[in-house]
Amino acid sequence: MNILILGGGGREHALAWAVMQNPKCDKLIVAPGNAGIAQIAECAKLDIKDGGAVVEFAGENAIDLVIIGPEAPLAAGVADALRDAGFPVFGPSQEAARLEASKSFTKEICDAAGAPTAGYGHFTDAASAKAHVRAEGAPIVVKADGLAAGKGVIIAETVAEAEAAIDDMFGGAFGGAGAEVVIEEFMTGEEASFFLLVDGEDVLPIGTAQDHKRVGEGDTGLNTGGMGAYSPAPVLSDAVAQKALDEIIKPTMAEMVKRGTPYSGVLYAGLMIENGQPRLVEYNVRFGDPECQVLMMRLGAQALDLIQACAEGRLAEAQVNWAEDHAMTVVLAAKGYPGSYEKGTAIGGLGALTEDSFHQMFHAGTSEKDGKVVATGGRVLNATARGATLAEAAERAYALVDAVDWPEGFCRRDIGWRAL
Ligand code: AMP
Ligand code: GLY
Repeated sequence: MNILILGGGGREHALAWAVMQNPKCDKLIVAPGNAGIAQIAECAKLDIKDGGAVVEFAGENAIDLVIIGPEAPLAAGVADALRDAGFPVFGPSQEAARLEASKSFTKEICDAAGAPTAGYGHFTDAASAKAHVRAEGAPIVVKADGLAAGKGVIIAETVAEAEAAIDDMFGGAFGGAGAEVVIEEFMTGEEASFFLLVDGEDVLPIGTAQDHKRVGEGDTGLNTGGMGAYSPAPVLSDAVAQKALDEIIKPTMAEMVKRGTPYSGVLYAGLMIENGQPRLVEYNVRFGDPECQVLMMRLGAQALDLIQACAEGRLAEAQVNWAEDHAMTVVLAAKGYPGSYEKGTAIGGLGALTEDSFHQMFHAGTSEKDGKVVATGGRVLNATARGATLAEAAERAYALVDAVDWPEGFCRRDIGWRAL
């Protein structure tokens, strides 16, 4: 079959790698891709948020399955355009993608489904939002309602800080995303991510992971898109995962069906777990990046069979062949990230790496210039490995890191510290 993947980060490189492991794949095109993806697939220039352009491209290239990586094309309705044109597609409709694109929508669905989550209020003006904050006290969480590239959440330690965040959001600091604000109870506990494939009411768990959002060792410093991840997440034990499935995931997916907007695609549930009880922090309508890298490393070729079954509405008959293994990915980022950083610096040592089903250097922000791989983003490479234990996976991932010659890059040396 001919497959098209939309996106060009580490997540999409991992998806492309897994897809290419499966003999079913005859041809893979990734738009826009990156320098690492270009070594295993054809990369194409395409406006991936333009449904019409994607449909036309899929037709011209006789595509049998489209896998949508990031949230932006989903929120723009690209999955709907493809489905309307008759293409099998992995990714939710624009309506269902509101589970990520609108925090108040998700809170309301949780209420209707009786799913445990933080208590909240939803506000369209600063005065009533501030009155709520003063009544509730701190710590408290202030969130821009819409998509804000992961930056629209402020954990306020004091009422004054929360009021300042409210002023910022209504003042336009997050553009349209901040025109409405959700204020949530601050939840304590340990966070983990639960990944499921969903087609309507059928739900298939495909793995758990934990990531490190802060830039500095010991989970300190500024928030980032994620500096590393590992799978499985010990805190998401079978018992906790079953609770999350029964109390959160299945009731909310049933609520989506009831409303005539069934969910289809991968569902990424961010959970807060305390004393064995999971509560929903947020839903994302895509794979996490870099969580996808560790999931793909563990699933390998079967990922394509599962994704295809999901896209074709055959999840009820699908099953995951679990291996008792562990995976870790370490993000190599440009010095300065998540602040400003230099672009175009050359990365050496990549050609000499030994890559196999236990070791993969996935590329995120890279491109090729004059025959050399150069860094073009903040998060640049994902050293990813698998082992019988997390310690073995970590040792292999850091060996990959150490084989790369990139003086302008850095990584955290403590990925997985909680679990190790
Ligand atoms: P979100 O964009 O909703 O995932 O929020 C980003 C991060 O903020 C989450 O991964 C949590 O670490 C934290 N967070 C969000 N909401 C809450 C909450 N109600 N209580 C505690 N932490 C939260
Ligand atoms: N790594 C967090 C995310 O993809 O949202």
